[in-house]
Amino acid sequence: MTSESGRPLSVRLAGAGVDRRSFLKFCAGITATLALPAQLAPRVAYALDQADPLPVIWLEFQDCAGDTEAFLRSRNPTVGDLILGMISLDYHETVMSAAGEAAEKARDDTVARGGHLVVVEGSIPLGIPGSCTVGGQSAENILRDAVRGAAGIINVGTCAAFGGIPAAGPNPTGAVRVEDVVGGVPVVNLTGCPVNADNLTATIVHYLTFGEFPELDGFSRPRFAYGERIHDTCQRRGHFDAGQFAEKWGDEGHRNGWCLYRLGCKGPSTFHNCPSVRFNGGTSWPVAAGHGCVGCSEPGFWDNMSPFYDRLPHVATSGFDLTADQIGIGVLAATATGFASHGVGKVVQHKVAARREKKAAAELAERADSEEETENGSASAGAGGEETGETR
Ligand code: SF4
Ligand code: F3S
Repeated sequence: MTSESGRPLSVRLAGAGVDRRSFLKFCAGITATLALPAQLAPRVAYALDQADPLPVIWLEFQDCAGDTEAFLRSRNPTVGDLILGMISLDYHETVMSAAGEAAEKARDDTVARGGHLVVVEGSIPLGIPGSCTVGGQSAENILRDAVRGAAGIINVGTCAAFGGIPAAGPNPTGAVRVEDVVGGVPVVNLTGCPVNADNLTATIVHYLTFGEFPELDGFSRPRFAYGERIHDTCQRRGHFDAGQFAEKWGDEGHRNGWCLYRLGCKGPSTFHNCPSVRFNGGTSWPVAAGHGCVGCSEPGFWDNMSPFYDRLPHVATSGFDLTADQIGIGVLAATATGFASHGVGKVVQHKVAARREKKAAAELAERADSEEETENGSASAGAGGEETGETR
C-alpha cells in the first residue's frame, strides 16, 4: 500500500515537526491503549506509515461541542498532527475554515467518493426537524446523506451513542441516538461526557492498522476501553475493600483519598478506562480529582445515575440487573470465594485476607438488607444503621 502523497506518515509528520522517535513512541502508547501485545507496536507503526489519510466527516447535532473540545486536546499526536497525518478531516463545522456552500460541497464530495468515516457528536432531534438545521437540511437528513457509502460511524460522546442529556426525560426535542436513525453501517460508540480523545485516536489507529473496528461489547463500545468497570481499576479501590469511605465533602476521609461510594460514586456501575487512560494528556480523571464517577458512559446516565451525589443502590447497570450495593457485595464475595460476580467485567483479584473480605461482604449484605427494609417502611429504629459496618 502506498500513501496518497507517496511519502510515509512518519515522513509527513517529520515535516510538521514530529520526529520519528515521537512517532514510534506514539505507536507504542496507542498499542497499549488498545490492550494489544507490545510486540504489535511495530505492525501498528508500519500500517500507519503506509496508510493513506482516512477521510473523515464530523457532524455535530444536539451537543455542547465537548467532544470536539476533547478531540482538540488529544495528547500525542496533537490534533494538528492527526489532521496532517492519519486522517483527512474534510468536514467539521466547528474547526473548518470553509463556510457556506464551499463547506457543504467538501462534505458532499467526500460522501461521493465513499469509504469515509462519519464521526457524530450529539443526538438527533427528531421532534423538531425544522428547528435544528444546517444549510436548510434537518439533522436527520444530513446524517442519512453523510453515511451513504461510509466505511463506518464513530459516535463520540454519550449523546450520539445513547441520546445523552438531550434525550433525558421529558426529552422535549424528541432526541434519539444515531443508531435509531441509520443502520447498515458498522458503528462504534465511544461513550463518555465527553469522549476520551485517546480512545478515539486508538479506534482510528485500529481501523487503519487492521482494516476493521476493534472488538465491541453489547453496546457497540470497544472492549479495550469499556471492558472493565471503573471500580475494578480505581485507585481508591483499596479503601473500598478496607471499608474506608469519605462521608462528607472535605472530611478527613475525603482529604485522605478514601473511597467516594457513599458520596454517590457510580464507579461500581460504570464501564470505562478512565482510571488508566485519564484525561488531558493523562493528567487526571474525576475520582483522582476528588469527585465520584457519575456514570457518564452508561446508557441513560442522566436519568438513571442522578442525583449524582446520592448513593443509588437500585441503579440499573449495563446488561445485568444488579444494584450498586449488590455489585459491591458481589465483588467482595467474589474476591473471597474466587469466582466472578458477573460475566461482563473482569474482577481484579486483591490481596486482602479472605476472612476480612467475608466479614466486609457480610456487613455490606446486612446493611443492604437493612436499607431495603427502611425503604419499604418496615425497618425498626436502630437496625443495621449507616454508621455501623464499613466505617473504621
Ligand atoms: Fe473508586 Fe468509586 Fe469504586 Fe470507590 S466506589 S473504589 S471511588 S470507583
Ligand atoms: Fe465519566 Fe465516570 Fe469516567 S463520570 S469520565 S465514566 S470516571
